Amino acid sequence: MRRIPIFAFILLFSTSVVHSALANDNLKVQNLRTEYHANPSGLDVEKPRLSWTLDGEGRNRSQSAYQIVVASTKEKLASFDGDVWDSGKVMSNATNQIEYAGQTLQSQTKYHWKVKVWDEQGQESQWSELAYWSMGLLNFSDWKGIFIGLDVGHQTGNKYDSLYLPPARYLRKSFNVQKKIKKATAYTTALGLYELRLNGSKVGDYYFLPGWTDYNKRVYYQTFDITEDLIPGENVVGAVIADGWYSGYIGYALLVHLDKVRGFYGDNPSFMGQIMIEYEDGSKEVIVSDNTWKANQGAIREADILMGETHDARLINSGWDAPGYDDSSWKKPKIYTHPNGRLQAYPGSLIQERERLPSVSVTEPKPGIYVFDLSKNFAGIVELKVEGAKGTKIQLKYGEMLNADGTVMTENLRKARATDTYILNGDGVEVWKPKFTYHGFQYVEVTGFPGKPGLDAITGIVLSSIKTDASSFASSSEMNNQLYKNILTTQSANFFEVPTDCPQRDERLGWTGDAQVYCRSATYNADVSAFFTKFLIDLDDAQRWYGAYPNFAPFPYSRPNQYAPAWMDAGVIIPYNMYKVYGDTRIVDYMYPGMKKFMDFQADASTDYLRPGGGNNWGDWLAVNETTSHDFIGSSYYGYDADLMAKMALALGKNDDHEHYKSLFEKIKKAFAEKYILENGYTTEDTQTSYALALYFNLYPEELALKGAARLAEKIRNNGNKFSTGFLGTKHVMLALTKYGYADLSYKLFKQTEYPSWGYSVVNGSTSIWERWNSYTKDADQNSSINAAMNSFSHYAFGSVAEWMFIHGLGIDTEDAGFRNIILKPSISEEVGFMKGSYNSINGTIASSWELKGNKLNLTVSIPVNTKAKIYLPASKVSYIKEDKKALDKISDIKVLSSTANETILQVGSGQYSFSVIMK
Ligand code: BGC
Repeated sequence: MRRIPIFAFILLFSTSVVHSALANDNLKVQNLRTEYHANPSGLDVEKPRLSWTLDGEGRNRSQSAYQIVVASTKEKLASFDGDVWDSGKVMSNATNQIEYAGQTLQSQTKYHWKVKVWDEQGQESQWSELAYWSMGLLNFSDWKGIFIGLDVGHQTGNKYDSLYLPPARYLRKSFNVQKKIKKATAYTTALGLYELRLNGSKVGDYYFLPGWTDYNKRVYYQTFDITEDLIPGENVVGAVIADGWYSGYIGYALLVHLDKVRGFYGDNPSFMGQIMIEYEDGSKEVIVSDNTWKANQGAIREADILMGETHDARLINSGWDAPGYDDSSWKKPKIYTHPNGRLQAYPGSLIQERERLPSVSVTEPKPGIYVFDLSKNFAGIVELKVEGAKGTKIQLKYGEMLNADGTVMTENLRKARATDTYILNGDGVEVWKPKFTYHGFQYVEVTGFPGKPGLDAITGIVLSSIKTDASSFASSSEMNNQLYKNILTTQSANFFEVPTDCPQRDERLGWTGDAQVYCRSATYNADVSAFFTKFLIDLDDAQRWYGAYPNFAPFPYSRPNQYAPAWMDAGVIIPYNMYKVYGDTRIVDYMYPGMKKFMDFQADASTDYLRPGGGNNWGDWLAVNETTSHDFIGSSYYGYDADLMAKMALALGKNDDHEHYKSLFEKIKKAFAEKYILENGYTTEDTQTSYALALYFNLYPEELALKGAARLAEKIRNNGNKFSTGFLGTKHVMLALTKYGYADLSYKLFKQTEYPSWGYSVVNGSTSIWERWNSYTKDADQNSSINAAMNSFSHYAFGSVAEWMFIHGLGIDTEDAGFRNIILKPSISEEVGFMKGSYNSINGTIASSWELKGNKLNLTVSIPVNTKAKIYLPASKVSYIKEDKKALDKISDIKVLSSTANETILQVGSGQYSFSVIMK
């Protein structure tokens, strides 16, 4: 028999004492979500996926089993009657992507659920708080309404010379509630944009409903629980509708004189919806959009996303959406044909108000022209507060920068008129904000204001699909801290129903190249699981018949050949990142047939495994001083796609496909190396971007990779530690450098403040990420020529450095999919004194904070319950590491995995750890 040494016995004994004391503190189950949303209304997925996170004291805490109970009523759930589904005790550590597996879910039904878990010692947690989801209208036959609107005429005159901006339409219906209501739900949608009104108030907190889709393929609807909003007696439901993406102006069509400039999906907006009322006595009633509604025009005279909104308050039909209003002068609505698209529940993140920004200054650069500064460059609208004579007309113009004379710069908006007008009614203080337009801006120029406005005349309202941030970041460099804020601001400004390139000019399209370089960064900054799910559906819908993914999605234009290397690849790269970050195989499965078709398209377009840079190719868009050939970029992305396809095929259990794409990747890699990589490790292109892509995409023959990395480092040093890269190269340079041991050089690029660098924009006062490295210079002459051209000051693409900040700066990454096995590998460098930050992963918050003092490193990390982490420390001996002042061999819950001259790797479970490391 093997004898256990006495000290080991004591150790075992003492740790188990400590452990069981801690285990008394049961795990807490929190943050219950269904399909990535807390308590969502109106789902239409057959098997919604459930998730939660865990909290618990101590270390090495994990879930060994769970039980989910779903009930038809709250009461049943409270009394543990899982009449819809009781999973029983499931021996599993899964806390997310868990498919509902109970009875078939019914249309228009609310489901209540809760969870309990067992910890690593089999100890039961308390039940979680109650959560719910409800199902929407699951069958087409559930829809009883028709699409209604109002005829307001049509455009006359030349579409390129004058704008056509029709008024909003107002629709109303009065109905009576005689009995006690048990439950009332509104299911509503529009072709165009709608705001739902009930008894005088807006229903829900959302903007730009029902969202943007290819309306010929699908139209999303919303579900609102309005049980509390109905009153005994007369009730009024109303809808205000406007063109939006359906029939308004979109993108650059007017600028380049496309065959259509507006009305891409239809000429007029229309609304459809129904209110389902269930009475206490069991009876039901449904109020549907039909020809018994009344329709009219009103105060909103113009409403267009790009052009702006005009509101004539003299024309308000006071009380039109409330009981007691006489609508006898209103018209019958016009009936519109049902679209071809399927009606579906909205799967994404709706646009909401995120923040209010008070004006920080108001100037008067010219008599009667007032310029308000809202402190940062954002996307949204303003609220105007004014008192004055009836008929006074106030005009609001929006811009990101000021001209030399202090007025607002609008040249870079191109054909986006971005102007709102408000005409006063004259009855006291009037407070107004637009409903159907938005702008990208920091400054507002106000003309026609009665008297001298105070700061409170204009308040900024930040709108975004992102409600809350998911990360924090701080370092010893104030410049880098501001850069992080600018990245968040710009993400929030552009994650606006789709990932738009920019929020201000006549574009605002879901450009795929921008989205693919930035998507991993986006996941660190916010929970974008639902947002990208929706965008991927758009991308799938927009896939060209021949297999390429287009330049942007949705793709409303009739231009057949709009695809480009590194843009179209978003169709593979974004699904892969959703899998990697959220462990989401469902979206990968959804995209899979399209992705295969895309790979076939690439195979057809290639010769000997090299894909030429066909399509309308922008190459390394906005690179400075170096050009990487389009063919090189085309082939490198083809290789990257094959590699990601192999990984996704494996995740879906498609083993043949996995083998196929793995071998395709090897073939591409070989052909690529033969054509583009020289024996000395140089690329034939010898540009920063060419090294960054080939190294990051693993296209280098192993024996030459170090030489390639050395050449990249040399080129950067020779360039004064500055970039020569554009959208594509920039993201990959520091990722490649750090991978091959050049962390110090990455930090030099990160801290650089000379043009071209991020720091250059920060020291020039930016509050956002710019489209170009030199979007703005203090040199007035150069500036005016750049500004007049295409130049946005809110373009998230160059913000892709966030990925490096989190993966390498703070060192937070995931080994496999979904942050279950965490990698904590900060790149420690004397270039930075400290870094501190956190990331709310799908499994809970991961924190990392390091500080370097001389040769002593302090690293504090926090690892969420039910996950493990490999911690990489720059210690040449295990004895140089202490945790909480103790030597590692005195700590049983830290395992040394390996230790070499450069690095020691530790394995830990959940908990807080404080390491000190002597670096020698
Ligand atoms: C957009 C970019 C986009 C590019 C394609 C621009 O107009 O703003 O962000 O990726 O076109 O080159």
